Amino acid sequence: MDIPWWRDAVVYEIYVRSFADASGDGVGDLPGIRSRLPYLAGLGVDAIWLTPFYPSPMADGGYDVADYRGVDPLFGTLADFDALVADAHEHGLRVIVDIVPNHSSARHPWFQAALAGAPGGPERERYVFRDGGDLPPNNWQSTFSGPAWTRLPDGQWYLHLFAPEQPDFNWFSPEVHAEFLDVLRFWLDRGVDGFRIDVAMGLYKQEGLPDTPPLDQAFKAESPIWGRPEVHEVYREWRKVLDSYPDERMAVGEVWTDSAEDLARYVRPDELHQSFNFAWLEAPWSPTAFRKVIDDTLGTVPSPTWVLSNHDVVRHRTRYGEADPGTGLARANAALLTMLALPGSAYLYQGEELGLPEVKDLPPEARQDPIFARSQGTLPGRDGCRVPLPWSGDAPPYGFSPDGARPWLPQPADWAGITADRQDRDPASTLAFYRRALAARRALRGTLPDQITWLDSPEGALFFTRGPLTCALNCGPTPIPLPPHTDLLLSSTPPPTSAPTHAHAPGTGTGTGTGTGTSLGTTSGTGDTLPPDTAVWLRTP
Ligand code: GLC
Repeated sequence: MDIPWWRDAVVYEIYVRSFADASGDGVGDLPGIRSRLPYLAGLGVDAIWLTPFYPSPMADGGYDVADYRGVDPLFGTLADFDALVADAHEHGLRVIVDIVPNHSSARHPWFQAALAGAPGGPERERYVFRDGGDLPPNNWQSTFSGPAWTRLPDGQWYLHLFAPEQPDFNWFSPEVHAEFLDVLRFWLDRGVDGFRIDVAMGLYKQEGLPDTPPLDQAFKAESPIWGRPEVHEVYREWRKVLDSYPDERMAVGEVWTDSAEDLARYVRPDELHQSFNFAWLEAPWSPTAFRKVIDDTLGTVPSPTWVLSNHDVVRHRTRYGEADPGTGLARANAALLTMLALPGSAYLYQGEELGLPEVKDLPPEARQDPIFARSQGTLPGRDGCRVPLPWSGDAPPYGFSPDGARPWLPQPADWAGITADRQDRDPASTLAFYRRALAARRALRGTLPDQITWLDSPEGALFFTRGPLTCALNCGPTPIPLPPHTDLLLSSTPPPTSAPTHAHAPGTGTGTGTGTGTSLGTTSGTGDTLPPDTAVWLRTP
């Protein structure tokens, strides 16, 4: 079967600041990523997505871009970028870069010109400026807390849906259109395989800027802010550019919406190739919730995607098991195996292959996410999922930075047992499980139908087949009989015999917390049972 590479790719998100630091300044960088490409190739992913590495004052970790065609010195140089792309391709990895079209940094030359220019002048046309009195022009709130408007000394207000350091572009300006088409070409010419589009449902705001419903309802289709109809024209233009390059260049949109129908509008044949399916990430640990998302997605969205974690949300291992880390990890691995059995493409977030938990106890003075400061500390923000990766060694910086350097966010003192190096040598580790699962998925590539068939399952479970593959997930509290099968291909729970040898640090619970007293170590038979919080891949009879 000849399908485009992205349609069933496993893409690994690299949050550049936190992946690997080669320069020793405590911040991850492009040479650091380059040095870890063998690890990523060995993991078995097909592509990497790099979060923004462009020149930026880092008011929002690089999502405030001051120059769309460069590399911030913190992360390296353009030559480092070119070398990274070349090496990634050598390793069989495609490269997706982030593009941030909703807003720039306040330090971007265009915004600096707008500030220096006069109210009503052409320099302000590229952003959203409005006259106002003492009150902002409307009631819009920033996604990061507080009003979405900031007032200038000359009395005008400018719009920022995120931090004040991130002014929103005015997409009704032809200059903005032309600029981004050129930026796309700049990176395509350097060999990138695709783009992840930040805030893809933003960009246009309804003319007249009417008041919006409260923020908790703002991601609705009828919002004056999100998902305006004009935005689709932008992606049609972008698609033409992507299609004019060889080798299946693609784009995936960060689209937060509450309906699969709305999501599907972004992936019409002449628009984006993919859109993140956040409904999967937002679903609680519940077979009915999972089944609904799967049905809604497969019934409505062409080229579906699946994602459990990213740099903006609490890590799924912690979401699934706040009280008991062992349960959280067992569920995380079971959800992963289920997701990898579904048609479409899967996005992984760095560190989930190590079973990393959310770091909840970062000291306030260490926190850097603008959400924390803008909410006066009432919201923790997203630093807890951005803690630099533990690669090796027994103490911070765990090989993330050269010894002696201080990572930009502190790493927990008890991560020695879950470093990549430690897990590499342990067949019962989460890392070993991810490698097995990704290898098994790759081996099945091209042999599986595009749709699934649900099988009858006991309460608390989900059973489905995709041709030769049967996937069974037990979300309930008791073991259940497995569906009919000939062989057990893979389990999210390590065989019970290997559990005691699995080293893990106190409190981090790299063990799965399940898997004892089951017959899942066997490879055949119909009498086997599936423990709670476990998924398996079986060969369909
Ligand atoms: C997206 C990014 C997030 C960023 C925001 C503003 O949601 O994923 O990290 O803060 O856009 O650019």
